Amino acid sequence: MSDPIREDGLYPMRLQRFLARAGVASRRGSERLMTAGRVRVNGIVVSELGSKVDPRRDVVTVDGIECRIEARPAYLMLYKPAGYLTTMSDPYARPTVAALVPVDEFPGLYPVGRLDMDTTGLLLFTTDGDLGQALLHPSRHVTKHYVALVSGTPDERDLDRLRAGVMLEDGPAAPARAELLSPRDPLFSVVAPRGAGRTGGGEKNAVVGLTIHEGRKHQVKKMMQAVGHKVLRLHRDAFGPLTLSGLAEGGWRKLHDDEVGALEALRKGREQL
Ligand code: URA
Repeated sequence: MSDPIREDGLYPMRLQRFLARAGVASRRGSERLMTAGRVRVNGIVVSELGSKVDPRRDVVTVDGIECRIEARPAYLMLYKPAGYLTTMSDPYARPTVAALVPVDEFPGLYPVGRLDMDTTGLLLFTTDGDLGQALLHPSRHVTKHYVALVSGTPDERDLDRLRAGVMLEDGPAAPARAELLSPRDPLFSVVAPRGAGRTGGGEKNAVVGLTIHEGRKHQVKKMMQAVGHKVLRLHRDAFGPLTLSGLAEGGWRKLHDDEVGALEALRKGREQL
């Protein structure tokens, strides 16, 4: 397992960030502790806000109590809203998912895979570079479940082409699970809030559930386009064993221990291949 303290290359780090990451207080609160003279590094009071510490060597105390950064990697999921790029920084200063997750508390956090700017749903983040790599490796076959509002209504022939592995410009897609969702399906309203209405041309639209295990760029949009149905809205509600349960759009949460365990099992699966 990778160790963010050793491997993320971000140390030494600012003392207030260390304190926030150690769960002592928010960064602002940590700054107040520092200026109040309550924080010591190797026994010496440090109140200057730009001061840095190296958690591998320095002993940090608050009111005499030692604080440590959890050496375990962080795992969390975001319910990504539309309008954010899946990257931790953007040279054009467009909104990125970095604004939605606690990067200060978890230096080295990065998204595992990507969702398009207009796609909503489950995006996994970790500081564990090994795990992220393993989950994205094609040999892992990690399934992703998407719900797509599409133009028109795919018929059984369209769905069978998706199930067989539809041809894309860069080669055939792997066989997918594909089904039409009924308006009674709880996922239906995630992409069709007012029900399956009509697209701009007056054409009826429909909601498709699609399970794939590849991760090519714009894969779902290209697969649906290949069978003649443009994706109007796209949402990912599951990534491997993870689902968005307990999250509202724009929110994040740490993974539960059993969820981390399930991801670990996927990683080990790869090692056995
Ligand atoms: N497929 C797409 O086309 N877009 C996404 O964001 C994810 C999968």
